[in-house]
Amino acid sequence: MRQETIGNIVGNIRRRLEALREMTATPGEGVTRFPFTEEARQASEYLMGEMRAMGLAVRLDPSGSVIGRLEGERPETVMMGSHLDSVLHGGAYDGAAGVVCALEAARMLVEDGGQPCLSVEVIATNDEEGSRFRTGLFSGKFMLGQLSPDDLKRQHDADGVSVYDAMRQYGLDPEAAASPAREDLRAFLEVHIEQGPVLEAEELQIGAVSTIVGIRRARVVIGGRADHVGTMPMDMRQDALETAARVIAGLGDAARSLPNAVATVGNLTVEPNIMNIIPSRVAFTVDFRGVRRADIDAQYGGLLAALERETALMRTRYSIEELLDAAPVDMRPELRQAILASCARRGYAAREIVSGAGHDAQVFGARIPAAMIFVPSKGGRSHCPEEESSVEDLARASLVLRDLLNDILEGRAAL
Ligand code: GLV
Ligand code: MN
Ligand code: MN
Repeated sequence: MRQETIGNIVGNIRRRLEALREMTATPGEGVTRFPFTEEARQASEYLMGEMRAMGLAVRLDPSGSVIGRLEGERPETVMMGSHLDSVLHGGAYDGAAGVVCALEAARMLVEDGGQPCLSVEVIATNDEEGSRFRTGLFSGKFMLGQLSPDDLKRQHDADGVSVYDAMRQYGLDPEAAASPAREDLRAFLEVHIEQGPVLEAEELQIGAVSTIVGIRRARVVIGGRADHVGTMPMDMRQDALETAARVIAGLGDAARSLPNAVATVGNLTVEPNIMNIIPSRVAFTVDFRGVRRADIDAQYGGLLAALERETALMRTRYSIEELLDAAPVDMRPELRQAILASCARRGYAAREIVSGAGHDAQVFGARIPAAMIFVPSKGGRSHCPEEESSVEDLARASLVLRDLLNDILEGRAAL
């Protein structure tokens, strides 16, 4: 392996992150790059050009991910990358940072010459965030055969466009979801910003993810009845918002009573949303996370019990639709060790860390060995325009990723 200077890597990372930052639907107000949009197409074409220039064989996969492949002696594949999409008014690093670090690791691999024993792919996955269709972790699930064409018809964006139709309009075939799962994948490696304050506070440069939290998401609709707010007595009204408020108020305390668990209602709509009409319909999302499956399920069970109790008390109705159920996933211990050993050799301060954010690595990690390399986030900020990480730290993460890849390809890190 040639010795690479941080300076060269920093330049490439900065250039690519700045280019991707401009590919947004909300210029000047953070990065908004939803799946199957013009911004997504622009970023995909840009990344394809960068991959082609470094000698990778490029394709858009059936889920809309961009993939650059270096053919090895064997077709089995080590995949590395992160996601191309963003949240609404997000930052320039969540997802994109992991893609550009994987590009650098691939560039170093190509420049080292020779054919690797396993094939290597760089991937920019599609719709990891789930911001448009309230789903998430899309490409991994699509690739591993966990979505059906019917699922894609059921999931809609705020304008009522289904994933199925959005894919067709984008030039992809949603029926490909029924194709056999990819069986060639041997490992998945992802660099990502931490998105929290821990590494920076401890003055660390790298985190080796131990476990990615499990996530269970649902959309709840409470049905009430629109009536006059002044004339309908309290014990006769059917107030959908008061019901929702009573249910939601208990979720935070339930999460606080469990170790490493969180609960969030991030989206809520009220109808008719008029000052002097009793709310007739409230829809909200709930996102439960935890490092233990049982804690997530206990939170979900608590939600169902509260819905039963409060709708009975308030004379309202409810329906609930589960949007995502991803179990907590441990990253492969051998790969975690290899990351920490690389950091020790290179003199980078590092430790293991739990990921409270969801990542594609959890979908892949449930099936094949997976590893994540975290870099500090300034002030712990993320999912906002202020999100930032140092390009020097990202360059370090690219070198650690290159080491990890080498350890795998040369059989030092057991899969
Ligand atoms: C993705 O960033 C998530 O954790 O929701
Ligand atoms: Mn992310
Ligand atoms: Mn995110």
